[in-house]
Formats: sequence, structure tokens, C-alpha cells
Amino acid sequence: MGTLLEGHIAVVTGAGSGIGRAIAKGYAAEGAKVMVADINAAGASETAAMIADDGGTSVDSALDVTDRSSCAALANKVMAELGPASVLVNNAGIVRRAPISAQGADQDWDDIMNVNATGVYNVTKAFLDPLRENKGRIVNIGSIQSFVHTGNAAAYTVAKHGVLGFTRALAAELGPDGIRVNAIGPGLIRTPLNAENRANTDMEARFVAQTPLRRAGEAEDIAGPAIFLASDMSGFVTGAYVPVDGGYLTL
Ligand SMILES: NC(=O)c1ccc[n+]([C@@H]2O[C@H](COP(=O)([O-])OP(=O)(O)OC[C@H]3O[C@@H](n4cnc5c(N)ncnc54)[C@H](O)[C@@H]3O)[C@@H](O)[C@H]2O)c1
Repeated sequence: MGTLLEGHIAVVTGAGSGIGRAIAKGYAAEGAKVMVADINAAGASETAAMIADDGGTSVDSALDVTDRSSCAALANKVMAELGPASVLVNNAGIVRRAPISAQGADQDWDDIMNVNATGVYNVTKAFLDPLRENKGRIVNIGSIQSFVHTGNAAAYTVAKHGVLGFTRALAAELGPDGIRVNAIGPGLIRTPLNAENRANTDMEARFVAQTPLRRAGEAEDIAGPAIFLASDMSGFVTGAYVPVDGGYLTL
């Protein structure tokens, strides 16, 4: 066990799977007490069990980031069961790939904007008081699609560009309160989010061919940068976008 996050209370959304799970486990391994929150309550409790097995401390909870009352309830639960949050990771996200004229595009647009963009706003708002109290840290999970487009995902691209904009806006607004706000931009990371697409298309091969490090990422690749941005090691870093994409954006 490390000590980089000792004394911290960290909230990770979408922590019942993939990248959020890896970040929650990584934070607990560095000494943080972690709130593992996900709309998939079973996934969240599975993550909490893994953390316990590793000797860490966490609480799990159901959370729908699109529902402001659910976000407020989570903030109350964190305060009651762990104390005032000092780290928030806005990680929950969905993706659906289809052309803009496809049937169902309107619903996809609404759902993706609600979870990936408005959800980040909702959870951040719910935790502002404890984050101010603790000179906290916010880590938003963007994407290479915070900068570029990849196939048939207009809503996702807009939402992830928005996550980067929100990161910069809040870094400026909350900096005087001592809150740091940064974003991580994963490239292709092998998680359940893209499992079907990876299985049924040559998407992974195309991505790897365009990636200088010549591999796809694993969820654990995101944990280190997320620990860095939550810890005192990044004490003068705010408004930054940290690409974790094997160099994809350099080409
Ligand atoms: N996997 C990648 O290649 C990749 C690349 C770039 C960015 N990202 C981003 O990383 C984040 C995590 O994705 P992942 O790959 O780990 O996917 P994942 O599907 O494994 O995990 C996403 C989690 O978010 C949860 N979630 C979905 N809607 C929610 C809601 N309304 N409220 C609360 N939780 C909700 C899901 O239940 C799931 O557990 C997302 O924001 C995604 O956009 C992923």
C-alpha cells in the first residue's frame, strides 16, 4: 500500500466497471477512503469487495449522474459515512456509435449529453461545499474525442469536448478557492464500454496502427495519472488535459 492519498476521501463515479474501477482501486491502494458510485449497484459493490480484498477502505452506492437528487443523496451519504470529500473523479460515461441520420439518433444524443456532459456538472455541483472546505481536486475523464473525432459518434465528441471546456472553466473559477480541476484523455482502453465494437470490427487494429506505442490501453493505465492529479504531486497543476493514449494525438 502507498501513501500518496492518505487522509483523502475520494468519490469515483462509474466505478463499478472499467476505468472507474481501476481508479477506485488505485486510490484505495494509495490510502484514500473511496466512495464507489455507479448506476450499476452490483458492479459498485463488486469493486468495493475487490478493494476490501486488497486491504483498502471503501463504501459503495447506487448513483445516477443524470439525476440531481441522486447526486445530492450521494453527497449526503459520503459526508455521513466517510466525511467531507476531497477528491472527485467524474468518470461515469456511455458511448453509442451511429450516424447522425440513424434511427434513434435523437435519443442517443439526449442520453449521451445527459450522462457524459450534464452528469459531470450535476455531480460536481453536489460536492462543491466539501471540495471547497478541503481545497479539493476534481479529475474529469475526457477522451481523445475532447480534441478529435472518431467514427460515428457526434454526440460523444461534443460531450467530451464539453468535458474539456468544463475542466478549463472550473479550473479558472475554482482556483481561487484552492480547488484544482484537471482532465485525463484516455485513448482506446479495453473495457466493457467498447468490448462489442472491438469484437465485431477492426477498430482496435486501426487504433493501434495509429498509436505510437502500438497497443491499446488497459483500465489500469489510467490509475497512475489519476493518482497524480489527485495527489500533492500535482499541486501547481490545474486546467490541464493529460493524454493517456499511447501518443495517439501526436499523429
Ligand atoms: N474505454 C475507452 O476506450 C475510453 C476512452 C476514452 C474515454 N473513456 C471514458 O472513460 C469513462 C469510463 O469508461 P469505461 O471505458 O470504463 O466504460 P465502462 O462501461 O466499463 O464503465 C462506465 C461505467 O459508468 C457507469 N454509468 C453509466 N451511466 C451512468 C449513470 N447515469 N450514472 C452513474 N454511472 C453510470 C456504468 O454503469 C459503468 O459502470 C467514460 O467517461 C468514457 O467515456 C473511455
